[in-house]
Amino acid sequence: MRPRLCILLAGAVAVSSSPVSTKDSGDNFALPDVSHNYKARAAAIETKRKGWLYEEYPLGGAFYPTGKLANQTISEQQAQWFPIVIEHAKLIAEESVAALSGIIAKGNFSTLNDYANIYENQWKMSLPRGPMLGMLTNYTDDRLFSMMRLLKKTPWGVRPNLENGLKTGEAFTGPQYYPWAPDAARDYLNQLYVSGESADFERNYYRSEFKKRGLIDSSFGPRLKSFPFYEDTTVVTEAIREFMESFINSYYPNDKAVAKDIELQAWYRETTAAQVHDFPQIRTRQAIADVLTHQAYLSVIVSNVMSTNGIHLNSMSLPFAPAGFTQPIPSKKGLTEKDLMLLMPTPEGAVWQVSTYVVGHRPMWRDSNETLSHLFDDETLLARTNPKTRAAAVKFKATMMDFSTEVRARTFDKNGLNRDMPFIWDALDPNYAPFWGVI
Ligand SMILES: *[C@@H]1O[C@H](CO)[C@@H](O)[C@H](O)[C@H]1NC(C)=O
Ligand SMILES: *[C@@H]1O[C@H](CO)[C@@H](O)[C@H](O)[C@H]1NC(C)=O
Ligand SMILES: *[C@@H]1O[C@H](CO)[C@@H](O)[C@H](O)[C@H]1NC(C)=O
Ligand SMILES: *[C@@H]1O[C@H](CO)[C@@H](O)[C@H](O)[C@H]1NC(C)=O
Repeated sequence: MRPRLCILLAGAVAVSSSPVSTKDSGDNFALPDVSHNYKARAAAIETKRKGWLYEEYPLGGAFYPTGKLANQTISEQQAQWFPIVIEHAKLIAEESVAALSGIIAKGNFSTLNDYANIYENQWKMSLPRGPMLGMLTNYTDDRLFSMMRLLKKTPWGVRPNLENGLKTGEAFTGPQYYPWAPDAARDYLNQLYVSGESADFERNYYRSEFKKRGLIDSSFGPRLKSFPFYEDTTVVTEAIREFMESFINSYYPNDKAVAKDIELQAWYRETTAAQVHDFPQIRTRQAIADVLTHQAYLSVIVSNVMSTNGIHLNSMSLPFAPAGFTQPIPSKKGLTEKDLMLLMPTPEGAVWQVSTYVVGHRPMWRDSNETLSHLFDDETLLARTNPKTRAAAVKFKATMMDFSTEVRARTFDKNGLNRDMPFIWDALDPNYAPFWGVI
């Protein structure tokens, strides 16, 4: 099973499948019952507490789980996703060779338009549809760049991979024009973390974050006429919240039951040991539903838009988003296309860029059960939940299917725009975006 509902729900809240929960028989989820067989339950929790610790990680950033049980989980997760990553990387390597030959056969790059040759009839497995519709044709329109700025753009097992990449410089073996060294990546990550920008939990709930940045409900400046990331994120995130509310409300009869759940309150205290910043008090049912919703937002929506589907389909597409230049950018105005071409990626550099950024893309999962529509679609797990939770899962899937239909019906209007953008943004199509963070 992929780390989805199990991580979000059973792993986080005290709704547990403990052998001492009395109301449900068998293996069903239930609230912990402290009056019954308390000693055995306390001992089981103590074992877990000792085997699941937190410490600094070489890469920096957030504290990282360690200890016997945590290490076991990390290894299991790596065993799940690493083979897929390796297989994917092998196919990309093959496609890279073909893409380079294709560029050379067409006489390399002499104009910016020639960069479209990197995509033409290439990357059939890793980027079969090429960049988003409009990206390669509408770049003379300023709205392409301004709207890209508004498209904002995994659990534990991933971090060792990133750390190894930095250590060996794997992520930096591209053509030498890539401007950053591994240490710069580490510094950037830590700056972002220490400033609270990425570390703060509640302050980064999407609406709070957008408000803080003046993107919504701003007291100054005009309202944004169109904010596609916010619009699509709202549909998906609010559907996740509705599921979470049904799930939590069907287990906890009222807020008092939340405050009295000593295991849940102990879990909350662990967030301090793990140095989670700005984690909310858990006194109400809504507070738990909001925590779970935000976790899903981070690992599904943000990860998708900034990596899986967003990055190569728009924000890293060539020629207008090079990952680096072959020379420092001149400070004088009035550069000609010919001057620009001297700075632009070489054929090898362009192929390196595409192949590096398609690593996180999973077009082969489009319309499969790895997508967002199937986030709560896990028979084994749902069989252990109550009927209200199962009904909420059915509703979530139906909402996502409808939204996918809506996203796929998007076209350019008579001005050549879609929601004021000169390209079609479909990164959050629920039957395209994977429900889990992939790399
Ligand atoms: C868990 O893994 C970390 C990192 O590899 C290691 O330093 C630590 O000793 C391990 N702990 C246990 C109990 O295996
Ligand atoms: C085209 O690019 C390839 C790869 O960099 C290079 O080997 C070849 O000499 C170039 N051809 C021309 C005509 O510049
Ligand atoms: C997902 O789909 C695959 C391929 O169709 C199938 O083998 C697998 O059992 C499905 N998984 C779930 C959880 O339904
Ligand atoms: C953007 O590209 C599409 C498809 O190539 C075209 O139909 C549309 O008119 C273009 N929009 C603008 C503003 O150029």
